[in-house]
Amino acid sequence: MTVRIGFLGAGLIATYHGKSLRRSGADHVIAAVHDPDEARCAAFGAASGATPMATEEAVLDAVDAVYVCTWTSEHPRLVAAAAARGLPVFCEKPLATTLAGAREMTEAVEAAGVVNQVGLVLRSSPSFLELAHQLADPRNGRVQAVVLRDDQFLPVQGMYGSTWRGDVSRAGAGTMLEHSIHDVDVLEWLVGPISSVSARSSGFHGLPGIEDTVVAGLGFASGAQGSLTSVWHQLLERPSLRRLEVICERAFLALEHDVVGPVTWTRPDGDSGSISGEALMAGVADRHGGRLPNQDRAFVEAVAAGRPGPDPDLRTALRAHQVVDAVYRSAAQGGAAVAVGGPG
Ligand SMILES: NC(=O)c1ccc[n+]([C@@H]2O[C@H](COP(=O)([O-])OP(=O)(O)OC[C@H]3O[C@@H](n4cnc5c(N)ncnc54)[C@H](O)[C@@H]3O)[C@@H](O)[C@H]2O)c1
Repeated sequence: MTVRIGFLGAGLIATYHGKSLRRSGADHVIAAVHDPDEARCAAFGAASGATPMATEEAVLDAVDAVYVCTWTSEHPRLVAAAAARGLPVFCEKPLATTLAGAREMTEAVEAAGVVNQVGLVLRSSPSFLELAHQLADPRNGRVQAVVLRDDQFLPVQGMYGSTWRGDVSRAGAGTMLEHSIHDVDVLEWLVGPISSVSARSSGFHGLPGIEDTVVAGLGFASGAQGSLTSVWHQLLERPSLRRLEVICERAFLALEHDVVGPVTWTRPDGDSGSISGEALMAGVADRHGGRLPNQDRAFVEAVAAGRPGPDPDLRTALRAHQVVDAVYRSAAQGGAAVAVGGPG
């Protein structure tokens, strides 16, 4: 079955998915696109072969599955519209500007029984997959602590050039929700559930409701402790970069750069090393049937097969929203410890 894909939103991330779909080899056609920005809509159509449509409904009428790639505040309404028609949906993160909105969307896609997936990309990023592989080595012992620093330039400029990320009504909040929702998701994926947070935040750039500096202490249910530093700065020379350190009972692991590494490890008895670039990607591909995981391929294949969407789905993203919400509640109380409930 050739899956007819529609896009709502034709900006940066829609363009990324369009290219990734082309590379994926999945049996699909990008059939339709709508974006109220007509120039963007036309450019996306020219690049992808999609027919530009004047309305959201025209896209939903013409396709088998839809990507929701608008700014965040539009996600809930569009996901609900897709679910109401029984259409599989790939929604970008964050799901919504509020936890309640994210929960409603999750319930809507689950009630409709549609394939659903979310663009929490770090779970399929080669560096994180390599780190997960290293972390699974039983010689490591238990994880005691994690340190994750995530910084990028304030994304109302540069390659993002998006005014909406400076507008709380469309973005919901700043660096924690818009960007570091990826971080809490990948930390729980690697280390297990976070059971409490204690966070402080500030804003240096005068955008109301858009915090740009967050430091969160994370308590994991396993007893591990973590810290997450999430910053939007003004250094345009420095793109989005992460450094993750994982300290286990008998291992020290570190990751830089989401895609190409290096990932390094130190274990007893001289077992230390580093892997990056082509070698890192070849190793990851070897462990995944000879090719790098691709979220877009996984989505199209799930739609074609009519089977439940692959993780991360909306339920998984809702969990990340729960942790992010706890971080904001803690920061609002000056860093008080806030319990993070179980998933749901
Ligand atoms: N997974 C990731 O790593 C990642 C990376 C970047 C962005 N994102 C997420 O993707 C979403 C879009 O971000 P972006 O960088 O592509 O923004 P962008 O500004 O480049 O594009 C958003 C587009 O949505 C359009 N739009 C707004 N309302 C619409 C509607 N009702 N119907 C159709 N189009 C509509 C806008 O006109 C704009 O062109 C955000 O939620 C963002 O958080 C995820």
